[in-house]
Amino acid sequence: MSRILEFQNIKKSFSGREVLKGISFEVNKGDIVFILGTSGTGKSVLLKNLVGLLRPDSGAIIWHDKDISQYSEEQYLEVRKNCCLVFQQPALFDSMTLYENIAFGLRRLTNLNEEELDKQVRDSLKAVDLKEEILSLKPAAISYGMQKRLSIARSLCLNPEILLFDEPTTGLDPVSTQAINQLIFRLSRKYDTTSIVVSHDMHCALDIADYIIVLDKGKIVEQGDVDKIKCSEVPLVKDFLQEVLDANS
Ligand SMILES: Nc1ncnc2c1ncn2[C@@H]1O[C@H](COP(=O)(O)OP(=O)(O)OP(=O)(O)O)[C@@H](O)[C@H]1O
Ligand SMILES: [Mg+2]
Repeated sequence: MSRILEFQNIKKSFSGREVLKGISFEVNKGDIVFILGTSGTGKSVLLKNLVGLLRPDSGAIIWHDKDISQYSEEQYLEVRKNCCLVFQQPALFDSMTLYENIAFGLRRLTNLNEEELDKQVRDSLKAVDLKEEILSLKPAAISYGMQKRLSIARSLCLNPEILLFDEPTTGLDPVSTQAINQLIFRLSRKYDTTSIVVSHDMHCALDIADYIIVLDKGKIVEQGDVDKIKCSEVPLVKDFLQEVLDANS
């Protein structure tokens, strides 16, 4: 299993308050990695550091043997094409059709001609189980769950090496949550994509993760495969596991 990404002692403060307190972990190619933690613990900040929307104060993020945290804004375009972040909110452009919403990143980050672009848009829409009839609609005309899928298609169409999901199931009912979870699993395996999923949902993590990292107050308190996490003695991990048991009983 080859390593694709490495966080080395990443620290980040806002106005003197340290939010990330030295985060180190590795991601192997093809894995689905879940990052779990309570609200406000720095999960979104961590993902934003990877795609250059925020920069760490210290530490390194190694991708293809280079420390990308020092990249210029221009160099980061290459990173964003290959490490695509699906945001917590679908954040679609209201005034654009769904087609143009998906095509937006392709137009900005690739040199595809219109025919190739059209194929990419339609293939990625199909991959997230949406129908072509909706492509001429505006975002307001489809449900929140469909908007979430569309935002995944918007990232998927770039054929990224790493897909990053920030709370992909927040705000969804249990059936849609399960469907998005299975979609992430299917896409990761089908396209051999590496996925990093930020979540509160231990149930989803136990279902599809290859590796789980648990964050608390800006620090990693536990990490390992599903079997290791299930046996963890860390109080926060036990709380998360108890929630899963309570929900199943
Ligand atoms: N751009 C910013 N400027 C100042 N503070 C920030 C900024 N972004 C995040 N923070 C602070 O960093 C902390 C961690 O935020 P973050 O959004 O990473 O939490 P989270 O773990 O993703 O939480 P949630 O599960 O609610 O999404 C919060 O206290 C937040 O207010
Ligand atoms: Mg967040």
